[in-house]
This record gives sequence, structure tokens and C-alpha cells, in this order.
Amino acid sequence: MVMQEFPQSRLVAAVPSSPSLATAQRARDIQAAGGDLVSLTIGEPDFPTPPEVVEAALAAARRGETRYTPVTGTTALRAAIAAKFAQENGLHYDPASQILVSTGAKQAIYNALTATLDPCDEVIVFAPYWVSYPSIAQLVGARPVVIATRREHGFVPRPEDLAAAITSRTRWVVLNYPNNPSGAVASLEQYAALAEVLARHPGIRVLSDEIYEHICYDGIVAPSFASVSPQMRERTLVINGLSKAYAMTGWRLGYAAGPRDIIAAMSKLQSHMTGGTSAVGQAAAVAALAMGSSYAARQVAAYEQRRDLVLTRLAASGALRAVKPNGAFYVFVQVLPHRLPDAASVADYLLDHGVAVIDGAAFGYPGWFRISVTVGQEALEAGCERILKAFEG
Ligand SMILES: Cc1ncc(COP(=O)(O)O)c(C=O)c1O
Repeated sequence: MVMQEFPQSRLVAAVPSSPSLATAQRARDIQAAGGDLVSLTIGEPDFPTPPEVVEAALAAARRGETRYTPVTGTTALRAAIAAKFAQENGLHYDPASQILVSTGAKQAIYNALTATLDPCDEVIVFAPYWVSYPSIAQLVGARPVVIATRREHGFVPRPEDLAAAITSRTRWVVLNYPNNPSGAVASLEQYAALAEVLARHPGIRVLSDEIYEHICYDGIVAPSFASVSPQMRERTLVINGLSKAYAMTGWRLGYAAGPRDIIAAMSKLQSHMTGGTSAVGQAAAVAALAMGSSYAARQVAAYEQRRDLVLTRLAASGALRAVKPNGAFYVFVQVLPHRLPDAASVADYLLDHGVAVIDGAAFGYPGWFRISVTVGQEALEAGCERILKAFEG
């Protein structure tokens, strides 16, 4: 008997599969079949987790810290996160009621939206956006309202863009600076201008995903949206995590800090979903946070050189315009409209030329593509060469 495919729920069926994962999978398939491909798709540091962090996890396991932890995270980790916010951002949170540790920043974001949104509620997301924000909103039946930011404005929303997007159904505004994929970093002044608009709409909350906070170039410091004003601090849920700054993507450690009511709702949801994240991982996170931004600084030194390499190489093309990122570890590149290939997407076209990138459509920005600089110089050189060749003439 042939088994019929088990139907997906309406909500899951309505969410598109991640285009970035699809490209990464195609790249893997080509490589597995022995194909010659340079992959510039990866969204994680090529640095190892710091050895002292690994040691802290091993020591915790040997001490027997292998049991369930409190749903919201161990007391030690929540205290370390509160200390991080106080020292680095001048923000003071009560570790008992205003901080939640989750299985990656991704789960923290999922918790926040799922715990607070009802069908037809609206979430404002600015493109180019990290692939998961609109899908997470859709998974709850809410409506992502996507507003494009522009290269001329440094990919930071202008206050008038925000004001025009707000309706009586708006519940959240999602901000992500330093931004994946554009590398834009919002200044405190730009945040203050957005805060002025939000001050007129007290029912709206801000989800500020600051996971690339420590990955900034040229001496730039990325401010936290919550530090704009005491009012915004009361209305902002800050999302952060260990994945990027401490090269800990596989450990799955993220956290949220913000209003008590939202943290309580998120914790309730998490208690039924995953509970507290890995006990040994949390011990590792305490050791990582004790390093401050020193490990990120080492990464930044390497990424900055690679970023400059990509910018210099691609500047030779008359078909492409690469944007200099101030943060995160990507270079976002525009294919000039009259040079767009006929292929289904820019990424498909480049795949046929031996280089894998993530298509801008994945970030709500078709006609562009993202290069990750978390690969060695050799791969970047080879990748840029192939990209230039693909758009030659
Ligand atoms: C902007 C942004 N937020 C969140 C995440 C997810 O981070 P985590 O590994 O902590 O789930 C990513 C990962 O690529 C990201 O780019």
C-alpha cells in the first residue's frame, strides 16, 4: 500500500521553505557530486569556540551539571547576562523577571512573537531582513508588513517609512542592526528618530535583534535600541545570543531581555516547548560572556580584511555594486538592473558559474545577493573571480 503524504497544517503549508537553505542544499549536493563550487553562503563564524569556553562546559559536565535547569536559564547565566547589559549598554534588568535564556536567538524571537501575536496582528519588518522574521510571524497567523529600506538611506528605516507602515493592528516593529544581510549599523540619532514616531503609538513594542552587536568595523560601536530613552527601554525586547560573537552557533544559546509581561509570556511558552536550554551550554555561556567583546574583536580583524578584499575585487565590475558593511559578516551586492540575468534568480545564475551565494529574494530584496566573509581568503578570492567572470562583458 502506498502511504499518502501526511498533510501539513494550514499555517506551516502557508510558509515558504527557506530560499537560503534551498541554495545551501543545492550547493552541498553539487559539492557531494564532486562539482567544483565555491560556497559563500555560510552564516556562521569560521573561528572555533574559545577553548576556555569549551573547558567550562566540560568542567560543568564533570561537576554533574547535567540536569534540567530553570526554564528561564540558570541563575549564574541570567546574572552574567544582566551584568553584560549593565556594562556594555548601560541597561539594568532584573535577572529574575526580565531575562530569558533560549535555545538560540531564533527561539527567543519565536517565543516573543508566538507568545504575543494573534491572527491578523501586524509585525513591521524592514527589508532586507533576516529570513526568519516574516516566516515566524506567519507561523502564528500574523501578518508581516514588509517595508523596504534603501541603499541611499544606508538601509536604515526613515521615521516617515515607519510612520506610514503603522496601523491599528501593528503590535511589533522588528529592528536588526547590525543588519543581516546589509551590514548596516543604525546610529543612536537614527534610533531616536524612530523612537519619536513610536512615542505616538504606546501600544507597539520593539523587537531589537542585536546578535551582531560585537561585529562592527572601522571602530563603529552599535548602540542598543533600548538605550535610546527610558520609555523605549520599557517597550523594547532586546534579543541577543552567543552564536556570532563567541563562535558558538552549534551550542544554541540566545537570550531576551525586556518587559516583565513579555518575558513571562515567553517563559510560559518555552516551558511547554523546550524548557531550559542545555545545562552545560549555559555554563559555557557564562565563561563566554566573561570575555566581553575580546573574542569578537579577533574575528572582526579578520573579517574586516576579507570585507575589504571583496569590495576591492567587485569594484572592478561594471555590473555590480557592493555596499560597504559597517557590521555583521556579509557583503550585500546589487546587480545593476540592466545586467540582471534571465535565470530564475541571481543565486541560480551564479551557481551555474561555480559560486554559491544567498539570493537577495531570501531577504525580501530581489536583484541583490549576499556574500559571507566567514570563509578563508583563498575561497573569497576564487569566489570573487567567478562572480566577476559571470558578469563579464
Ligand atoms: C539577524 C539574526 N538573528 C538571529 C539569528 C539566529 O541566531 P541563533 O544562532 O542564536 O539562533 C541569526 C543567524 O543567522 C541572524 O542572522
